[in-house]
Amino acid sequence: MVTTAPEDAYTAEPFVPSRGGLAALRKAAAECRGCPLHREATQTVFGSGDAGARVILVGEQPGDQEDQKGEPFVGPAGRLLDRALAEAGIDPEQTYVTNAVKHFKFTQSGPGKRRIHKAPSLREMTACGPWLAAELALVEPELIVVLGATAGKALLGSSFRVTQQRGTLLEEEIHGRKERVVATLHPSSVLRADDREAAYRGLVSDLKVAARALH
Ligand code: URA
Ligand code: SF4
Repeated sequence: MVTTAPEDAYTAEPFVPSRGGLAALRKAAAECRGCPLHREATQTVFGSGDAGARVILVGEQPGDQEDQKGEPFVGPAGRLLDRALAEAGIDPEQTYVTNAVKHFKFTQSGPGKRRIHKAPSLREMTACGPWLAAELALVEPELIVVLGATAGKALLGSSFRVTQQRGTLLEEEIHGRKERVVATLHPSSVLRADDREAAYRGLVSDLKVAARALH
């Protein structure tokens, strides 16, 4: 029987290997039972990309397509993100992309039983944090791009507000390391925006701040 820790003890910590690099992390994360989200999701969606990347992009959690394919940002939000990155002057191939939470959280209702994204709780974000911390420690990026409020809260604390902190180069202490951070909108929120073009321009403009910080 697979057991999950009691609610106040949700954490990925015991599943995180202390050696073996990203490949070992990815393999171990596939077996994570640190919180209940693994139960309904298809699989763990670990970070992927260039292990030597200068920039790491952190989203919220995998979406429906990512859950099925096992790779982050391969659905509509990922395509929009790649386009915006390229337009801002950052080669998507030279980034490492990951999420604050590694399992897809959703509700399912209606006749077609479409899976609707549900925001992860603070407890689930905290539980999953050790994976992100381990990725940061191995990739050692020069810059972290925070995509949206969930990633911001996971990395910078619950007082983070994307509307106030986006588009400027921040210096923050994260897991005991001084990190350079640029926050922006989540690409999914661009897809949902009433004025999609304006939201997209805002995303590109924030990513240009990130591109300049890498020069
Ligand atoms: N949204 C995210 O935050 N991450 C993904 O991987 C896909 C969509
Ligand atoms: Fe583990 Fe994170 Fe998945 Fe929860 S969401 S089971 S902590 S990998």
